[in-house]
Amino acid sequence: MDYIATTYIPSKQKVKSPLRYPGGKFYALKHIMPYIDCVPHDEYREPFLGGGSVFFAKEKAQYNILNDLETDIIRFFNAIKNSDTRIALAALMNNEVATRSRHAEVKAMVPKTPLQEVFKTYYLNRTSYSGIINMPAWGYADGKSAPPSSWGKFLFDAAPKLEGVDLFSLDFMEIIKMPARGKTVLMYLDPPYYHTDQKRAYTKPFTVSDHIRLSEALKQTDFLFCLSYDNCPEVRELYNWANLYDVSWLYNTDNKPGQSRKHGNELIITNYSVVHK
Ligand SMILES: C[S@@+](CC[C@H](N)C(=O)[O-])C[C@H]1O[C@@H](n2cnc3c(N)ncnc32)[C@H](O)[C@@H]1O
Repeated sequence: MDYIATTYIPSKQKVKSPLRYPGGKFYALKHIMPYIDCVPHDEYREPFLGGGSVFFAKEKAQYNILNDLETDIIRFFNAIKNSDTRIALAALMNNEVATRSRHAEVKAMVPKTPLQEVFKTYYLNRTSYSGIINMPAWGYADGKSAPPSSWGKFLFDAAPKLEGVDLFSLDFMEIIKMPARGKTVLMYLDPPYYHTDQKRAYTKPFTVSDHIRLSEALKQTDFLFCLSYDNCPEVRELYNWANLYDVSWLYNTDNKPGQSRKHGNELIITNYSVVHK
């Protein structure tokens, strides 16, 4: 059976992720979403959530499982899901400024409460180069970056999407192997790329053996999956048993004025056949 992909029309349920994210797919939605939208499903899983650009863009399924090994990220999304912590975090953001000195202060801060922990994650994400919270460097640009006055609103925009969603901070394998609750499970997976400067972007290393583990688990799964990767011979070889689609999109790498976005050659890999209308 072929799934028919059509030109991307953003869903009415689309909201913007409150997080900026290294390797985030916000700028690639036009290219990725047709592969997701064409598959009817009542259960959705995203084992490598990051900022969750795809989850926040799509129609919400009946059952949703979101996961990232990065505990800071999942703690942050759990805080937005809860109305008390969401309101408290938004209130803290309302009084914030985005300056180099405040960035240095927050970076040095040792959180004493769960709320301070998520505050630190969110503040550094919004003001650091490429949203990197691991060894963050100042990366906010006046006029180009979203100002502190809108950071609270982002939390409220994202909250309805997170209602009733299950959030985990586990290795991806556990998410792929969880028993289904829905009739049709669709997974979107966006692992760290094969060739990437991961030490900088993520705290958890993703090794060659992890790439192999992932490909073996996906080869065996009964669920439908859509995977995005860098287009390189190693990945093509690991997935020579699946459907490979060559795609290309522009990346927003940072906020330096005058710097153009990078062009990336990527792969979409599926275990279902997609035909473009
Ligand atoms: C490319 S990013 C995902 C970006 C996301 N799609 C977005 O649009 O923002 C990859 C994510 O995989 C997570 N990760 C790394 N190793 C993992 C593992 N073994 N299991 C689950 N998540 C992992 C990283 O913490 C990172 O957030």
